[in-house]
Amino acid sequence: MNEATAPDRPFAAGMYDYLLGGTANTAVDRATVEQMIKVLPEMREGAWANRGFLQRAVARMAGEWGINQFLDLGAGLPTQRHTHEVVRELRPDGRVVYVDIDPRVIERGTKLLADESGAAVFQADIRDAERVLAAPETRALIDFDRPVGLLMVAVTHFLKDEDDPWDLVRRYVDAVPSGSYLAISAPTADKQAARIRDAMLAGLAKTPTPAVERSMEEFSRFLDGLEIVPPYSGADPVVAHIGQWGAEDPVEADDDGSRWWYAAVARKP
Ligand SMILES: C[S@@+](CC[C@H](N)C(=O)[O-])C[C@H]1O[C@@H](n2cnc3c(N)ncnc32)[C@H](O)[C@@H]1O
Repeated sequence: MNEATAPDRPFAAGMYDYLLGGTANTAVDRATVEQMIKVLPEMREGAWANRGFLQRAVARMAGEWGINQFLDLGAGLPTQRHTHEVVRELRPDGRVVYVDIDPRVIERGTKLLADESGAAVFQADIRDAERVLAAPETRALIDFDRPVGLLMVAVTHFLKDEDDPWDLVRRYVDAVPSGSYLAISAPTADKQAARIRDAMLAGLAKTPTPAVERSMEEFSRFLDGLEIVPPYSGADPVVAHIGQWGAEDPVEADDDGSRWWYAAVARKP
């Protein structure tokens, strides 16, 4: 039994799946989420706001900007209307490559995608960008001469500052051509710092992938050299709280769960 499959440890993917009402989670995933919710009752709203952001960003990339190939890094379990389902509604020829570090995600994802041509999942640590970009699954489905949708949604917080997640984002962005897009979200403790940090200690700190919250300044650095897309109609091109991105009513959408996540979509010039 290695650490990555230990049944007595909670895992980020299973905890997130439980928050979204899925069934691919263990008793310890569920108990750990319940501990976090005691400290941060709006956590479930935050998870749904993040999932909504992913879906709205992918729909905009596929529908409005014509992107039909996506690299979903730290993809999570392919349940709850996943990237390829959103893409296919708009681009039946769409291709999606899912990458995750968690073997349970890969096992389940492989079964779910067995009959899907144009979608693949494989196990990798996204910190090894060169391996991810050179993997046969990636090369088979993604044409790096055409714009790509890069998704780093709710994953950079699992990377420590020492891992230099900013350089990592840059390495993925460097690999795709002009006209590609990056969608990125990450939790912050800019507001309610003590409560957010207590919740992280009660939960994600017990997983093999403890989380790091980032400030607006730290989050914004992920977007260096890219053109941020205005997050909603009438907005300036800025980082938004996650519920606001693509929302019809950004004031209404900016609930308590939304306010501890930053989100942005940006174009490579
Ligand atoms: C909170 S889920 C996000 C899922 C999806 N991106 C979304 O936003 O709906 C985070 C996922 O990132 C994965 N993950 C964490 N660190 C990773 C790493 N270094 N390489 C690849 N995947 C990682 C976890 O296993 C988990 O499935």
